Amino acid sequence: MAAAATAFALHGVDVVHRNGHRALEGLTLAVRHGERVALVGPSGAGKTTLLRLLGLSLAPADGRFEMFGSDPWRARAGELRRLRSRIGHLHQNPPIPPRQRVVHAVLAGRLGQWPWWRSLASLLMPVDCQGAAAELARLDMAGRLFERCDRLSGGQLQRVALARVLYQRPQLLLADEPVAAMDPALAELTVRLLNAEASRRGVTLVASMHAVELALRHFERVIGVRGGRLLFDLPADRVAPGRLDALYESDPVGASTRPAQARQPSPTLQPCAVVSCR
Ligand SMILES: Nc1ncnc2c1ncn2[C@@H]1O[C@H](COP(=O)(O)OP(=O)(O)O)[C@@H](O)[C@H]1O
Ligand SMILES: [Mg+2]
Repeated sequence: MAAAATAFALHGVDVVHRNGHRALEGLTLAVRHGERVALVGPSGAGKTTLLRLLGLSLAPADGRFEMFGSDPWRARAGELRRLRSRIGHLHQNPPIPPRQRVVHAVLAGRLGQWPWWRSLASLLMPVDCQGAAAELARLDMAGRLFERCDRLSGGQLQRVALARVLYQRPQLLLADEPVAAMDPALAELTVRLLNAEASRRGVTLVASMHAVELALRHFERVIGVRGGRLLFDLPADRVAPGRLDALYESDPVGASTRPAQARQPSPTLQPCAVVSCR
């Protein structure tokens, strides 16, 4: 694989949490610019830890790690900040202040890129309502621009967080269970939109997915994580059921989730009626 085409690469990487728990062990993985990758695996497998490593909030304890062609943990503070600003991280529980208006929550995506005076001005009077509205409209949230975030449902809040991270215009988008708070129809629609937007903008996308069926349907590459190791790394259409059985073996949550997801009907892109706004 040509280095120029690689968004990030891990060679024998271990991650150890502060309490000494080795959450990832010997990970070797390379992802090209513009690839769309889903991480699947049982609870506690290490998916969130891997996303935090890629988001440059956790450093590897061992191994080699390259992000956009350089080792972020050998970079100077300014360079590390610049690398981080190229990465959008959609957390499982998005840290959005409850009393904040949706427009401010979305515009916060670019606070790290704007000069201080523009960020300050935007807190008083939103500086790019149109830009925020455009991101929200793509996620069927156009009418919510001036709503307070604590008046939104969990699924709507997840879409506001998604609009914010898309507004940031990252080169690498990390999403930790981005549709976990949504009903199956809305989850399907949102995962489809997320992949379509990533593909349209040439963004590298890595998302952990609780719903395996959604991962297989919408992502081009699927990586199975279990016990802090990679169990498989395959094109989505080559993930055989046996692989998933091994991945979720003796995992009551995964075992009950997979068949349930498989039984969900697949909605089309049009039916905004199923995208329940509250
Ligand atoms: N901050 C932390 N401190 C200590 N252990 C952690 C921390 N975060 C996660 N772990 C542990 O690391 C392992 C992987 O967790 P996580 O990455 O959250 O898995 P997943 O996202 O696949 O459910 C689990 O055993 C979990 O208990
Ligand atoms: Mg997790």
